[in-house]
Amino acid sequence: MKVLIVGGGGREHAIAMKIAENPSVEKLYAAPGNGGMADQCECVNIKATDMEAIVAFAREQAIDFVVVAPDDPLCMGLVDLLKESGIPAFGPEKKAAIIEGSKVFSKNLMKKYGIPTASYETFSDYDAAVRYINSDACPEPLVVKADGLALGKGVLICPTRADALKAVDDMMNHAQFGKSGSSVVIEEFLEGPEVSVLAFTDGNVVKPMVSSMDHKRALDGDQGLNTGGMGTIAPNPCYTREMAERCMREIFLPTMHAMNAEGRTFRGCLYFGLMLTGDGPKVIEYNCRFGDPETQVVLPLLKSDLLTIMQATANGTLSDVDVVFDEGAACCVVLASGGYPVKYQSGYPISGLAEAGETAQVFHAGTRRQGDDIVTAGGRVLGVTATAPTLREAIDRAYEAADRIQFTDRHMRRDIGARALRGL
Ligand code: AMP
Ligand code: GLY
Repeated sequence: MKVLIVGGGGREHAIAMKIAENPSVEKLYAAPGNGGMADQCECVNIKATDMEAIVAFAREQAIDFVVVAPDDPLCMGLVDLLKESGIPAFGPEKKAAIIEGSKVFSKNLMKKYGIPTASYETFSDYDAAVRYINSDACPEPLVVKADGLALGKGVLICPTRADALKAVDDMMNHAQFGKSGSSVVIEEFLEGPEVSVLAFTDGNVVKPMVSSMDHKRALDGDQGLNTGGMGTIAPNPCYTREMAERCMREIFLPTMHAMNAEGRTFRGCLYFGLMLTGDGPKVIEYNCRFGDPETQVVLPLLKSDLLTIMQATANGTLSDVDVVFDEGAACCVVLASGGYPVKYQSGYPISGLAEAGETAQVFHAGTRRQGDDIVTAGGRVLGVTATAPTLREAIDRAYEAADRIQFTDRHMRRDIGARALRGL
């Protein structure tokens, strides 16, 4: 089989490594891929959002299966285009990807179908938003979210109403997040441990993967700016078996049925961002794809064959395949360019990759080949993942390996998994 992976981050590298384990895969391609994926894939210089070029490439090369990983091409309808051209693909169609593409859509879906989430109001009119924030009905603290995709940055936690007024002004009047912020969601602030659960679903069944915990802030102790994710651990110790059963009953299956009832059957990987509050689990966000860096701890623990699961998901036969995980734990430490997520330099040579690779999996995110060297080429550069029987050992091994890798201005958090070990 010839398989094409669309995307080029750590998540896509983790997917590529897993798919490469399937013996029926004779050739893997990535568009655009990255410096590390070139070990498993032939990287082709096509952007993930260049839909016409991707479809044309898939046709020319007679690709048997395409995995579309990032949110942008999914929300733009790449899977629809591929299927129209007769090319099987993994990922939701555009009408289902809206569950991530529009927060107004997903909040209204949850309200309509009684799926627990933070209480909220949506606004496309600035004056109405201001009136609401100034009213007694508005809670404090509160959270202001841009409706559309904003690279995980369109969410502002506002301790006071004044902060919320500024956030709404920036989003709606000054296009801080471009068109994404022309509509906003204003919602109640939730407290509790956060859990990420990725789940395969084909519209008939939901098969959750091992739970995980992201670390979104740039600096230790959850300080600094929000990033795409500085590290992850799996499983998440807060997510007990009872909680998993409750989430299946109250959130996962109701979401699948809701999307079916709306004529938007979701086939792919559905990401549930959950907050385990005193009132029970609530949805913070849905993503229409594998999370990053969650995927970099989840897939290394997957014992079943990923390509088989993905094909079954796309075909609607997911109930026939097993999705089995290792009993152990995993930790991924992200190595970023100093200054990320704001301003950083690229092009620095990276050393120690082979040494780190002896005891850990090194997933490339922002890297590029330059002659015989691998150099930095983005904010998040690498994800170093170790697996072990216990979380404590996985964390120690991941840091041991991460410390073998050097590049100018290397930045990593030193406390990935520390909260999980404390059970928070
Ligand atoms: P999102 O992009 O929706 O995942 O939001 C980014 C982060 O903001 C989440 O991972 C949470 O840590 C935080 N967040 C989002 N919504 C809420 C909320 N209603 N209450 C508290 N924190 C939130
Ligand atoms: N790690 C969060 C996300 O992928 O959106």
